[in-house]
Amino acid sequence: MRPLGLGHAKVILFGEHAAVHGEPALAAALGLTTRVVHVAHADQTRVVILPWDHLRVSPDDGTPLGQALAHILRVVSERLQPPPPVEITLDTDIPSGAGLGSSAAWAVAVAQQLCALADPHASSPHAPVILAAADASERVFHGNPSGVDHTTSAMGGILRFQKNRPLQPLDLPPIPLIVAQVEPGADTGRMVAGVQRLLHAHPAAVQPLLTSLGALTLAAQDLLSVPPPAAPDLPALGALMDIAHGVLAALGVSTPKLDAASHAARQAGAFGAKLTGAGGGGCMIALCSDEQAPRILHALQGIGARPALYTLAGVRRHDLAL
Ligand code: MEV
Repeated sequence: MRPLGLGHAKVILFGEHAAVHGEPALAAALGLTTRVVHVAHADQTRVVILPWDHLRVSPDDGTPLGQALAHILRVVSERLQPPPPVEITLDTDIPSGAGLGSSAAWAVAVAQQLCALADPHASSPHAPVILAAADASERVFHGNPSGVDHTTSAMGGILRFQKNRPLQPLDLPPIPLIVAQVEPGADTGRMVAGVQRLLHAHPAAVQPLLTSLGALTLAAQDLLSVPPPAAPDLPALGALMDIAHGVLAALGVSTPKLDAASHAARQAGAFGAKLTGAGGGGCMIALCSDEQAPRILHALQGIGARPALYTLAGVRRHDLAL
């Protein structure tokens, strides 16, 4: 049986948390992936995750991953037909719990493989079923996901995402982006629930913060959408990132380490920096030029973060289309 399931890691450039409340977000897929490396007939469907000490996950094992797998199987069976029982072996280079969408990538890879097995002669890879199955899986871990993580993981590229609106893929020139793991990530569901509580307690003060995050997404999209050969105004984009970090901190999702890392990146010459994803720990991103990158990487390493340089063009995939 041909292994073909694959999900990307993602970074959220703008609009995290606000996306849960219907605001637009901008997200990009990274080259890090979770992918199916082997599929074999089995007595019952299960998943083996190689880098996690060959962890075996089955739908009835009582773990959150097992429940997530049961949901993926249910959605694929209901929307297509029950796939034959298989053992799916996964490899991954996405750090888990870092805010880079490891749970979304896991769900996308497994759902894509199971869709292909349920409907081997399909002319299209069933993107809507993959997204619905990944959504059901993400609900186990995150309670009320907006959908931005698994949509970006499945579709690749750079996307403007907004709940219940058509996706808008963006075409960007390559822009250097540093992604730094600053500390272990927090539980996304808990962080989302914290913002929800704040909104409930102080709607008049908190709703404008969420609206402002959505407005920053739209302003960033405008800056990024200049037709070539003009280049996006990176200092202006960086300034929007700094504002977004401040608003996210006001929502209570930053930490002293994420603040310090964003500050260190700016001091070392970044155009702008912000936390990315659910916050409470995890990763930050910094926008820079190629020339500035080594100094910023060095500064982030100096405060104990684990930075890596990416090119923000969004890894594209051509095998899935909505
Ligand atoms: C997590 O990567 C992004 C959040 O906005 C949650 C979501 O949109 O589902 C915090």
